[in-house]
Amino acid sequence: MKKIEIHSEAVEKIKKFTINDQNLGFGKYMAPIMIMSEFKNGAWGKTSLVPYGPLQLDPCAKVLHYAQEIFEGLKAYRHPDGQIALFRPELNARRFNFSARRMAMPEVPEETFVEACETIAAYCRNIVPKRIGESLYLRPYMIASEAGLGIKPAKEFIFGIVASPSGNYFASNSVKVFVERKEVRAATGGIGNAKTGGNYAASLHSYKRTLDEGCDQTMWLDSKEHAYVEEMSGMNFFAVMDGILKTPPLSDSILEGITRRSLMELALKRKWTVVEERIHIDELISKVKSGECSEAFVCGTASVLVPIASFKFDDGSTYHMKEPEGKLSLELKEELVNAQAGRGEAPEGWVHFTPNIEF
Ligand SMILES: Cc1ncc(COP(=O)(O)O)c(C=O)c1O
Repeated sequence: MKKIEIHSEAVEKIKKFTINDQNLGFGKYMAPIMIMSEFKNGAWGKTSLVPYGPLQLDPCAKVLHYAQEIFEGLKAYRHPDGQIALFRPELNARRFNFSARRMAMPEVPEETFVEACETIAAYCRNIVPKRIGESLYLRPYMIASEAGLGIKPAKEFIFGIVASPSGNYFASNSVKVFVERKEVRAATGGIGNAKTGGNYAASLHSYKRTLDEGCDQTMWLDSKEHAYVEEMSGMNFFAVMDGILKTPPLSDSILEGITRRSLMELALKRKWTVVEERIHIDELISKVKSGECSEAFVCGTASVLVPIASFKFDDGSTYHMKEPEGKLSLELKEELVNAQAGRGEAPEGWVHFTPNIEF
């Protein structure tokens, strides 16, 4: 590793670490090592691989009060030949810096971000799980660590990456969606297209309701008319309507998913018609009822691609997809999963191998 400083205590920790659990879950186990870097006096200090452990923060650190923070999520996969590969990490680096700019935070050079991801994944190679659906989930983040109660952009930050050997995000093969018609996750002109904690905090009240309604995911509508489908709290949305793959167009209230983009690229390669178009919730439901909407699914790094089984509203009305496991979504999912895990062809540049380091 060129720029990352490797602490010997971290190497000792990872050498001894094992997990004896067949059911990894998502984000349940953390690797015993992490990446750390501090921004002070207008510059990033060295980036280091250190033992996993608590951060020391002043109680007045701005992140704790004003939520100046951003994060990313990406996965490293164990390929059948044993190599560990990241999936399109450059896109996460780019989105991280987009979020940084939106939140008045310093950018992390793309090559440092990618090298830090490669480093933690390479040192975790013995704990990258190998069954289908499993991977090493990486969580890069940046927080405002400067102390002070004035509401202004901080000047000191911490950048870090933690890693979690993980399995499937959802326990079941399809999700039940609760359509949120009152609250909004993100508004026009707001921060919905940045990956920052505030958007997720805004989603939690409705998520509690979603769970109480016996559903798995909240579906968010636009902030002006409360009518057009935007996305889930941590996933983008697609539907197959009249045989065409449709997804809401990007806006400043939708996160540009890397899975969304990858699925669209795969669909276009297959010469399918893919349309980015506003989808009115009433039109969606009427097409679900008539069968003209034959498939609907959510997608994201953590969940990959999961069909939607039903849409529920706050008056209790529920509309079921006739056949949640649709043909097109299954085909797309298989192609994506195989590309990610090295079991099939991947478009150029999608698979980013990590170096094989002796330790
Ligand atoms: C709000 C939101 N939308 C969509 C996504 C899907 O993005 P990606 O496919 O890059 O994981 C995520 C997850 O990162 C998200 O948090």
